[in-house]
Order: sequence, then C-alpha cells, then structure tokens
Amino acid sequence: MIIRKETEKEFNQIYDLVKVAFQTAKVSNGKEQDFATELRDSGNYIPELALVAEEDGKLIGHIMLTKTYITTGDSKFEALLIAPISVLLEYRNKGVGSELINESFRLARKMGYTVVVLVGDPAYYHRFGFRPAVNFGIKHIPEIPDEYVMTCELVPDALNGFSGIIDFS
Ligand SMILES: CC(C)(COP(=O)(O)OP(=O)(O)OC[C@H]1O[C@@H](n2cnc3c(N)ncnc32)[C@H](O)[C@@H]1OP(=O)(O)O)[C@@H](O)C(=O)NCCC(=O)NCCS
Repeated sequence: MIIRKETEKEFNQIYDLVKVAFQTAKVSNGKEQDFATELRDSGNYIPELALVAEEDGKLIGHIMLTKTYITTGDSKFEALLIAPISVLLEYRNKGVGSELINESFRLARKMGYTVVVLVGDPAYYHRFGFRPAVNFGIKHIPEIPDEYVMTCELVPDALNGFSGIIDFS
C-alpha cells in the first residue's frame, strides 16, 4: 500500500469512496462526500494534505486536512481540521486509517503546523493523542457534545496556555 497526494483526475473516484465508506460509519449525515468537495473549493484546501491510500492501483482510503481557525479576541490561530477520513469496509482494521493519519501528521509538521482538530469518536482518536478540546480551554459550537470535539498537538505543548473558539465554518 502507498500513501500519496490525491490528484484532480481522481476527485470523482474519491467522491464515491467517501460516500461508500460513510454508509457503514457509526455516525454519518450522508453528506461527507459533498463536504470534501466543498472543502476543496474553499480557501482552506491544502493539496499537500489531501492524501489517498492506494493498493494494487485501487484507491482504498482517503484523508483531508484543511485549514481551520481557533480564534481568541481579534487573533486567529491557524490549525488543521481532519475531515473526512475514509477507508473502504473490506480494508478496515489493517492500519490503513492509522497510516493515513500518521503520514498526514508527518507532512503537516514539516509544513509548520502544530495543532489538529476534529469532530469524531474518542474511542478511535485517543490512540493518536487526541483529547477533548475543552481540556485545553478551547470552546466550540454548543450543538456538538464536548467529548467529540478533539484536538491533538503535533508539537509537544503547542496548546499550553491556549484558549479560544474553534471556527468550523
Ligand atoms: C474510521 C476509519 C477511517 C478507520 O480506518 P481503519 O483503516 O479501519 O483504521 P485502523 O486499521 O488504523 O484502526 C482500526 C482500529 O480502530 C478501531 N475503530 C475504527 N473505527 C472506530 C470507531 N468509530 N470507534 C472506535 N474504534 C474504532 C477498530 O476497532 C480498530 O481497533 P483495534 O486497533 O483495537 O483493532 C474507518 O473505520 C472508516 O472509514 N469508517 C467509516 C467512515 C468514518 O467513520 N470516518 C471517521 C469519522 S469520525
């Protein structure tokens, strides 16, 4: 299996991959594939951090890290949002999701990013170092229960003394 950047000619294929993967997700609004397209069309897209997992020429997984902001008063801190992450059902529990996350983190660190946020299941994301954002004094929109909004430091202590509000828009 290789992990590499997504390419434009694969966007339709990735759309289908995300759609199919989320049909068997624990939680889904059925629109994650459209969200991926919206993110690409937004100013928050980072081509270097939109990756696919490929095995024998077939796309089996995908991850997108895009820019998001944690605001405090007038200042805006640029962090990364993981969304969506998808692995085809028949390739799950073999470490593909972990490799997509670890490789995206390695590249993100090289680009100078220090903080990643996401909305997801703590049972899966704890292993990568994600902790509830509220533990770091970071707030978010109140509709989502606290434990599902998580942050991860790419660099030790990046969130020390931090506070602010995550802007998911
Ligand atoms: C989440 C997902 C990307 C993980 O991909 P994967 O390649 O199976 O992940 P890995 O092989 O690296 O890790 C598998 C481990 O995570 C666990 N896991 C996977 N999804 C989980 C979840 N939602 N909650 C708790 N644990 C989960 C598995 O039980 C397995 O545990 P183990 O290592 O103790 O055996 C994949 O299940 C998927 O595409 N799901 C549908 C889309 C989705 O839900 N995306 C995430 C939205 S937050």
